[in-house]
Amino acid sequence: MIILSIESSCDETSVAVTNGRHILSNIVATQIEKHRIFGGVVPEIASRMHTEAISAVCDEAISTAKITYSDLDAVAVTFAPGLIGALLVGVNFAKGLSMSLNIPLIPVHHLRSHIAANYIENDTLEPPFLCLTVSGGNSIITKVNDYTHFEIIGSTKDDAAGECFDKTARALGLPYPGGVTLDKIATVPDFKKYPLPYPKIENSEFDFSFSGLKTAVVNLVHNASQKGTEIDIPVLAATVRCRVCDMLIDNTFKAVEKYGFKTLALAGGVSANSELRARMTQECKKRNIKLYYPELKYCGDNAAMVGVQGYYEYLDGNMADESLNAIATLPINYSGGNI
Ligand code: KG4
Repeated sequence: MIILSIESSCDETSVAVTNGRHILSNIVATQIEKHRIFGGVVPEIASRMHTEAISAVCDEAISTAKITYSDLDAVAVTFAPGLIGALLVGVNFAKGLSMSLNIPLIPVHHLRSHIAANYIENDTLEPPFLCLTVSGGNSIITKVNDYTHFEIIGSTKDDAAGECFDKTARALGLPYPGGVTLDKIATVPDFKKYPLPYPKIENSEFDFSFSGLKTAVVNLVHNASQKGTEIDIPVLAATVRCRVCDMLIDNTFKAVEKYGFKTLALAGGVSANSELRARMTQECKKRNIKLYYPELKYCGDNAAMVGVQGYYEYLDGNMADESLNAIATLPINYSGGNI
């Protein structure tokens, strides 16, 4: 089944052509350079740039896949969650294609597609498994009961892990996108030099809290600048990275043990983090757990993962019509197949 898929939830305009889990093309037009001077994504600029890019990106996806529009069986699109103006560009473009080609329209939840990024290169992975999904806006531990049914067992109560990385990187004067840069320059952590907190949520085994950690770094940097002392940026970056990984790893393995999973997956932009991947690999080896994570090129936002998840949503009968709207906030386990 040939699906054309569209992703425009944040700052990448991406269109892919997929056939089941197989990727025929995956074109990503990133807006990073435009947002860099502002130190983060400016929603209005993101929407405008999606509008400018989407037709050309779509044509390129079709020609790279060596097909024509008439070969398409369905259109899949990220409809939630994300920046509302940005999502609307993809949703409206997808609706137009679906109507003009008279093919089904498949709404895809952004976090479900991040999890589906794992299916692309891993033929053997199938639900059920446990997944830690960590991105710029979300940090959740979910049971993936089957391809379209998810159970949230832990989530952040304030900032997402990616947001914590991005904001601390910004406080350290590192360029956007901060998480990536922080990961690159981090050396060896030193908790004696930089005693960062380990925030915990009371009466909750699997939930996260990252805002206290972020504030601690911001305060540390401000205090140093007021006193005129220097921050050892690579060491502080490594200490933050280590602390974020501690929290993600501890809660994930508590969940693995409690629910007895033998298969674990990582997903979302932060799953590209080098320490997270290395430590998760080590921990899984020790416990004899099979670990999956997406190839680096599928960790960030891309339409290939939307097409793969779209395929499973289609098999489950989760379709939309021309009334489909974009939704800024929606949990991964939303009820109601047809949006
Ligand atoms: O999944 P994603 O591309 O977009 C969302 O759906 O949010 O995630 C973007 C987030 C950003 O916060 C970015 O800084 C973070 O993923 N990120 C990383 C790394 N690569 C991307 N964080 C830490 N280490 C990385 N290597």
